[in-house]
Amino acid sequence: MQLRLVRHGLVDSTNERALASVADGSARHGDVHVAESQSAGRGRLGRGWVSAHGEGLYLSLVLLPARAPNPAAVTMGAGLAVLEGVRALGVRHARLKWPNDVLVSNAKLAGILVESRGLDPARPHAVVGVGLNVLQRAFPPELVGERAVTSLALLGCTATLEAAIQTLLEHLSSRLELACSSPERIAGDYARASDLPGRAVRIRRGSGELTGRLESLTLAGLELVLEDGARTRVPLEHAQTVEALYRGARRRSRENLEP
Ligand code: BTN
Repeated sequence: MQLRLVRHGLVDSTNERALASVADGSARHGDVHVAESQSAGRGRLGRGWVSAHGEGLYLSLVLLPARAPNPAAVTMGAGLAVLEGVRALGVRHARLKWPNDVLVSNAKLAGILVESRGLDPARPHAVVGVGLNVLQRAFPPELVGERAVTSLALLGCTATLEAAIQTLLEHLSSRLELACSSPERIAGDYARASDLPGRAVRIRRGSGELTGRLESLTLAGLELVLEDGARTRVPLEHAQTVEALYRGARRRSRENLEP
């Protein structure tokens, strides 16, 4: 993917700038809107994204593929790319939290918001917005009160903002290209990286919670064996959260115990 960087100082939201450029026809596949700060940074589920000047990475990548991409593959591809990017920057113990938060010891390091606006089948698009905490040494109390957060600097990583942008873009461009061309491969790589298949999990969806053993995670959905042995499949877009019930080592299976 040919990337074209569009640099901003203060903007409302890089996702908003990217979506506006799609709407006015000036966007190109691979455009990346990067800002120094955002006054109205958006998070998932209607939340905001605190975007202090020059401390975090705030970028949005525009996808204008020939065929409409699978939305779940784009979501998973973006999560994988950011995970691999922060690991490449030295944060080896980063992990994914469904669908695409990147955490370190339960503290949020990065978040992703994939958006599109309007459906023109002749011109499919998606905007992948990434927020990564880079240089922050402290966070506003209202944010800390809500959940644990961390940054590359707090984790002892000395990467500059520019290095973080370049590293993430390398991973985003290849993973998102693959999400458009080989969505099943992205789902397979995501399943492995998430370390969820084979584990006891809790899935939260609009109609309540389910617990059971996750048999598989594919584009067809989350295949779950419930406690009573019944099987069910939860479509990916219905799963609001998917959490492993026990995060430690996997229980060894009977096969593993046999000589
Ligand atoms: C989340 O975890 O809730 C997703 C956060 C996504 C934040 C990024 S910052 C750059 C881009 N522009 C936005 O307005 N939001 C995304």
